[in-house]
Amino acid sequence: MKQLAIAKNLSVPLDAISRPWAFLGIRGSGKTYAAGKLVETMLDAKAQVVILDPIGNWYGLRLDRTGKKPSRFAIPIIGGLHGDVPIEPQAGGLVADFVVDTGSSVVLDVSQLRKEQRKHFATDFAEQLFHRKKAHRSPLHLAIEESQVFIPQMGKGQERMLGAFEDLVRLGRNFGIGVSMITQRPQSVNKEVLNQAEPLVVFQLVGKHERDAVKGWMQHVGADLDDAMAKLAGLQEGDCYFWSPAWLRTFQPTRFLEKNSFDGSSTPGIGEATASRKLAAVDLGALQKSMATVIEKKKADDPAELRKTIAQLQKQLAVKVPAGAMKSDQAAIDRAVKKAVHESDKWWSAEAGKLLNKINRIKGVLGDGGLDAIPVRPALQLATEPAMVPAPPELLAAVERRHSAPRSTGDDGLTGPEQRILDALAWLESIGVKQPANSTVAFIADYSPTTSSYKNAKGALRTKGLIEYLPGGCLSLTDDGVAAAVHPTEIHTDNQLRERILSRLPGPEQKILTVLIEAYPVSVSYAALADATAYSSTTSSFKNARGALRSLGFATYPAAGEVRAADLLFPGRAP
Ligand SMILES: Nc1ncnc2c1ncn2[C@@H]1O[C@H](COP(=O)(O)OP(=O)(O)OP(=O)(O)O)[C@@H](O)[C@H]1O
Ligand SMILES: [Mg+2]
Repeated sequence: MKQLAIAKNLSVPLDAISRPWAFLGIRGSGKTYAAGKLVETMLDAKAQVVILDPIGNWYGLRLDRTGKKPSRFAIPIIGGLHGDVPIEPQAGGLVADFVVDTGSSVVLDVSQLRKEQRKHFATDFAEQLFHRKKAHRSPLHLAIEESQVFIPQMGKGQERMLGAFEDLVRLGRNFGIGVSMITQRPQSVNKEVLNQAEPLVVFQLVGKHERDAVKGWMQHVGADLDDAMAKLAGLQEGDCYFWSPAWLRTFQPTRFLEKNSFDGSSTPGIGEATASRKLAAVDLGALQKSMATVIEKKKADDPAELRKTIAQLQKQLAVKVPAGAMKSDQAAIDRAVKKAVHESDKWWSAEAGKLLNKINRIKGVLGDGGLDAIPVRPALQLATEPAMVPAPPELLAAVERRHSAPRSTGDDGLTGPEQRILDALAWLESIGVKQPANSTVAFIADYSPTTSSYKNAKGALRTKGLIEYLPGGCLSLTDDGVAAAVHPTEIHTDNQLRERILSRLPGPEQKILTVLIEAYPVSVSYAALADATAYSSTTSSFKNARGALRSLGFATYPAAGEVRAADLLFPGRAP
């Protein structure tokens, strides 16, 4: 039977491809190098290998030992600085389909993705790969670099990802899937999953926690390797122990053979920029096309992209060039521009008129002298503020579809109050407020910020790493928090936003804010405001309500004795 020759004193049978390997050791001890050698022997045996690489070193497989010429491994690279195609965070499932349908080996370089995107990609990929392999049972080896990232011991908020990788490691063998879990932090890899590993390839290990994790594995497999354990701390770079109690029944010191391809994790020499290494192109044909489709689809569903498109369309609409004027009829163009400018002026003066009416209404309530206290910003300045434009229905429908897709996080172990706070933060983020004041969050979540139920839930979220406390008593979602929060299912118009806020305020705050919203972006003096709301400016209920609006972040104090509605209530036209 064919064997994979990985070391001078060690060849392993081909079913190594479908086994769960683990490579453990301190930084620079030789894990990636050895796993690289194993992968090379598998590729030489025409086996399918997929590498999930959050570090960005595995592109080295494509180059020969010197790093100057192509290697014999024409393995495509998706993502990273050397990718044949960029990686699309949403395309995990699609890439899994590509892997299963084509039987191609591939490096998935997720090193350039942000943490949340990496998680998203890896989870979808692992889930779909497992699912598809159930019907396509052929050997496939998945090398997982820095596997504590994908198979974490502390899985809080990452249950779906952990579950997907756990399935691959535990059950994958039934469908031909083997893995190589590579890690310098065995104690941070989920214990249950790591205990499934065999063989274990152990390099130099010094830390107590790291060694305890290995001891835990030994207990699990019933091995007594105290002698070897004692030697781990003194191992040299590249030297390791190969432990396989049940599969090959061997416990031996060894050293993997020299690799044929470039060692991407070697420290670059002076003047040697790894990023600039050119790889010969690999034809990805169908994948390249479908990846482009996913990118386009994602853009079409992305509210930020939608807003960009809307803004572009608006621009195009603003100047209506008459038909036939396109060639070079400068006079016609001038006429059209003049007309458009005239129309725009008309629109703005109508708006200014409406605003003046509102001010006059306030003046009516104020009686004499009140209006002088209200500074009016020049109309010209007003005219530069864009109006909120409703999105075209088909685009809104696309966003709706995207947001109403079922949440797949499953039971994420959050209490009701915790979820409410996360959702309030997500809601505020959707209107552009990324770091709201504590009291604003409490308000949106329908809590008093001083109650212990609010404070406890907030503290718990911080401990779980879902929110961050920022200076000035502000809060923000972490990447994990963004993933755990339920995001609003609709694009708000400014009006809906203000109505929602007004409807939840107590009477006095509601009255005051209504006046401020009417006057926005003009600020209103305390005296004028008190009169407009029929409060006396000196009563405590007036002062308290005013103060409450300020601490909720809905009112600002642009100058002494003046108050103004906050810009966050007007996301469509924030100055
Ligand atoms: N079997 C070997 N033969 C020759 N050189 C080796 C061997 N094993 C390791 N090395 C050398 O040791 C260096 C460090 O090894 P490697 O990159 O595999 O470390 P690592 O354990 O993956 O470290 P990190 O945790 O930082 O990723 C390699 O760049 C290579 O030069
Ligand atoms: Mg490494």
